[in-house]
Amino acid sequence: MLELKNVSKDYYEGSRKHSVLKNFELTVPEGEIIILLGKSGSGKSTLLNIISGIDVPDSGAVKIDGTDITKLSEKERTLTRRSKIGFIFQFFNLIPTLTVKENLQLPLELNNDDNQDERIISMLTEVGLPERADTYPDKLSGGEQQRIAVARALIHNPDIILADEPTGNLDYDTGLQIVDLLDRVVKKKGKTMIMVTHSRDVIGLADRIYSLREGRLTESAKGSAVE
Ligand SMILES: Nc1ncnc2c1ncn2[C@@H]1O[C@H](COP(=O)(O)OP(=O)(O)O)[C@@H](O)[C@H]1O
Ligand SMILES: [Mg+2]
Repeated sequence: MLELKNVSKDYYEGSRKHSVLKNFELTVPEGEIIILLGKSGSGKSTLLNIISGIDVPDSGAVKIDGTDITKLSEKERTLTRRSKIGFIFQFFNLIPTLTVKENLQLPLELNNDDNQDERIISMLTEVGLPERADTYPDKLSGGEQQRIAVARALIHNPDIILADEPTGNLDYDTGLQIVDLLDRVVKKKGKTMIMVTHSRDVIGLADRIYSLREGRLTESAKGSAVE
């Protein structure tokens, strides 16, 4: 269960205040898939960064399984993030100097997880790239890199997946393949997911669709989601 209560976040441009989130409220039950729409600059990435504890709000609570992560030290927040959160980015963000296998090993190492080799092989098989363990990211297509990034987000078995425009840098068909993959693996594992997207093709995957505008959320009906 993920809960944001009365969260506010301001940024300043010189002395001008820009309120990105205003008394923001969101509750996501375990296993729910949320799609988040909103114009560029509306605060979608800021929201994901606050949920992951990379960024902290100016006020309000961010509760993951009942623990308010805004009350934790930075070190405790980092440990929580490493164990409970998986991130998928628009530009994949694989580490170029590490092989696929080493990229997948990193989240496991950071959590001192066991059975690393078996988990990596099994995860690579789930994303359809079992033979690419020793390949470097720059030898993979964009779609393949994003498959590996999905594997990296899931390999340490986090409760929450945060995906920031995961198909935004892919052509239409490749984007659909990533959506199918997320539908398969994230749903099957019962993970909670918050996905920022501009793609209507993702909407079928969602349990709920929200739009972020002027610091607040409005829920859209699935059939009528427009931006
Ligand atoms: N670290 C920061 N310092 C100052 N302003 C920021 C910072 N991060 C984001 N912003 C501002 O906050 C607003 C929301 O940004 P962001 O969350 O990246 O939006 P989105 O992901 O919806 O495009 C933008 O106006 C952006 O310029
Ligand atoms: Mg963004």
